Amino acid sequence: MDKPKVVLGVSGGIAAYKACELLRRFTESGHDVRVVPTASALHFVGAATWSALSGNPVSTEVWDRVEEVPHVRIGQHADLVVVAPATADMLAKAAHGLADDLLTNTLLTARCPVVFAPAMHTEMWEHPATQENVATLRRRGAVVVEPAVGRLTGVDTGKGRLPDPAEIFEVCRRVLARGVREPDLAGRHVVVSAGGTREPLDPVRFLGNRSSGKQGYALARTAAARGARVTLVAANTTGLPDPAGVDVVPVGTAVQLREAVLKAAADADAVVMAAAVADFRPAVYAAGKIKKKDGQDPEPIVLVRNPDILAEISADRARSGQVIVGFAAETDDVLANGRTKLARKGCDLLVVNEVGERKTFGSEENEAVVLGADGSETPVPHGPKEALADTVWDLVAARLG
Ligand code: CTP
Repeated sequence: MDKPKVVLGVSGGIAAYKACELLRRFTESGHDVRVVPTASALHFVGAATWSALSGNPVSTEVWDRVEEVPHVRIGQHADLVVVAPATADMLAKAAHGLADDLLTNTLLTARCPVVFAPAMHTEMWEHPATQENVATLRRRGAVVVEPAVGRLTGVDTGKGRLPDPAEIFEVCRRVLARGVREPDLAGRHVVVSAGGTREPLDPVRFLGNRSSGKQGYALARTAAARGARVTLVAANTTGLPDPAGVDVVPVGTAVQLREAVLKAAADADAVVMAAAVADFRPAVYAAGKIKKKDGQDPEPIVLVRNPDILAEISADRARSGQVIVGFAAETDDVLANGRTKLARKGCDLLVVNEVGERKTFGSEENEAVVLGADGSETPVPHGPKEALADTVWDLVAARLG
């Protein structure tokens, strides 16, 4: 099989150096990469680096090897074009169809999916001109990854950092896997909860669960790759990198998770509750560490109920037509329990999977049945958590119309 052909466009920002790592990830995982930098990008990283790392010739303009008509061929033959970093100037040119160098020509001739990973100073990102250009590109079907928040070129910090190359690579991998399809969640805001809540007993102990957060992260990543604006409410998922272009809200307890989900759900088109929320929390939080006392039995731990967030957001939808998805981890009578739970929670879809000590928790794979309130049943065979995530978004997108 031919290697997938990727065009890596690099425009002139300091984050150009990070594109070297993105390039390596593509080449090491069997992609044929043609790097097309802008002339400004070469001020940051030279042509020799791009050429040596990609094993392909590098040019910034249309006048090299004219007999090969590169300004048309490169775009026409690509399976994916990714521009990382995409400067404010590059976004403006792409949005207006300007074509004054090889990269902008390539963007006009490409009919494959296009991903932009912008990087710039916060002021430039927030400027209405840039925001309108981004909206135009998204409306036309490009995936524009939200920049990360953090340290910028100088001492300043804010929104505008290039997301981690590993995460941009994940977005590209998902976009490539789906082929030339419309980013069907473009213009949508989706909320995903992930991980497991921890209910503190005292400053050092908590009641928790085994959820790793990986399924929720896969949902967030795939939604972003399908063009959605994503808010990921993450309960105790330290160790998992923030997915590129996703707004991550870290929380600890069920009460905090409820607050964050309700806030984000106010303008959301869909909410997916993949988090394992503790049903109970200790009635009393001991401000000091609970000590054992010689000769005495330990005090029993009294629990109180936590709010049922899924049932609450299903009963009290923030917007009409909002699609709500729950997850159910069951050990016995999986489908029957799933149907009962779907009715009890009042959500539109319930992803039911069988769990046990060695099943699902922390693994990279999953197997499930998605039950619909309309009586539908969609089995998802054993496979990567991202495949299950894409099935969930297919079902959500169909319900959003
Ligand atoms: N959930 C929630 N709030 C809770 C508990 C669970 O929103 N307090 C959500 C989970 O995020 C998940 C779904 O409800 O999407 C199902 O969770 P599960 O624990 O299986 O359901 P329970 O109602 O707790 O049922 P069970 O009696 O089986 O524990």
